Amino acid sequence: MTGAKRIVSGMRPTGALHLGNLHGALQNWINMQEQYECFFFIADWHALTSDYENPGNIENYTRNMMIDWLAAGLSPEKNVLFVQSRVKEHAELFLLLSMITPVPWLERNPTYKEQIDALENRDLSTFGFLGYPVLQAADIIIYKADGVPVGIDQAPHIELTREIARRFNHLYGRVFPEPETVLTETSKILGTDRRKMSKSYNNAIFLSDPPEELRKKASRMITDPSRMKKTDPGDPSICNVFSFHRLYSPGALCAEIDPACRGAEIGCVECKKKMAEHLIEFLAPVRERIEYYRTHTDQVEQVMAEGSDRARRVAAQTLAEVRGAIRI
Ligand code: TRP
Ligand code: SF4
Repeated sequence: MTGAKRIVSGMRPTGALHLGNLHGALQNWINMQEQYECFFFIADWHALTSDYENPGNIENYTRNMMIDWLAAGLSPEKNVLFVQSRVKEHAELFLLLSMITPVPWLERNPTYKEQIDALENRDLSTFGFLGYPVLQAADIIIYKADGVPVGIDQAPHIELTREIARRFNHLYGRVFPEPETVLTETSKILGTDRRKMSKSYNNAIFLSDPPEELRKKASRMITDPSRMKKTDPGDPSICNVFSFHRLYSPGALCAEIDPACRGAEIGCVECKKKMAEHLIEFLAPVRERIEYYRTHTDQVEQVMAEGSDRARRVAAQTLAEVRGAIRI
């Protein structure tokens, strides 16, 4: 492993993973596992910052998220896969970093303000929620990450992580490298209603959806919105169903549908049915593995326990250096 760049990233356990997650973050991680030394974790403490009133689902979501990861092809041999709350060193580093992080840096954070407005039904005026990026900085620098693969929405948090690392190094001597943001390309497919795919929009297709559910969701997808009747010509280049075809159907079928749609020779109902069958075929092995792990949760527990042990060994070493640097 010497010389390989180290990658760290996490996901909050907020529910089942959908195709947007798969073709965004997760596929990116799966590609990275071949080349880099990767630490991927489930950020359950971060979930608690907004769900502290109702933490009952976090444990289940954590296990299911690990199942989705494994089923999608993240390897527990190639990566360190773990659960944040099982590596208590994150909390100690979070505490120490909180001593040196100016509050205005946190109040200025754009995602902080956005989230407070977006989740107006919850009281997020907590210390923990303000400190969300400090915990995230601890998650990252505790492994001395070189790179952090995240979506553009997380970029301000990685910038803040660099600033906190720099401040620590300035005050106590150089312990931490400053990690780079490795931007994840957003997935090309949208939700069934053509908005960004998101669990909270109720437009998501989940990795674990059974075939009947996939057929139902496919049949309800919004297509080229200007194609009202079957006799109207359509435009595949703006149709989300066609984006799905591009991902899941054979090239020959795409090449057939494209002109047939433009010439109004194929209807959307038929087109969606074809797409659904290829989507079902694509997801079949993933779903099979999900079913397997759901009935073999001892194996999932073992992955989480072993991964967390491996992570802890690295984190503990960094903490020893940190305590030495601060002399406490
Ligand atoms: N805040 C990230 C998100 O909501 C999750 C996260 C927590 C994370 N700690 C991290 C991502 C460390 C990358 C690195 O998506
Ligand atoms: Fe989209 Fe297919 Fe309908 Fe064309 S025929 S608009 S590609 S669903």
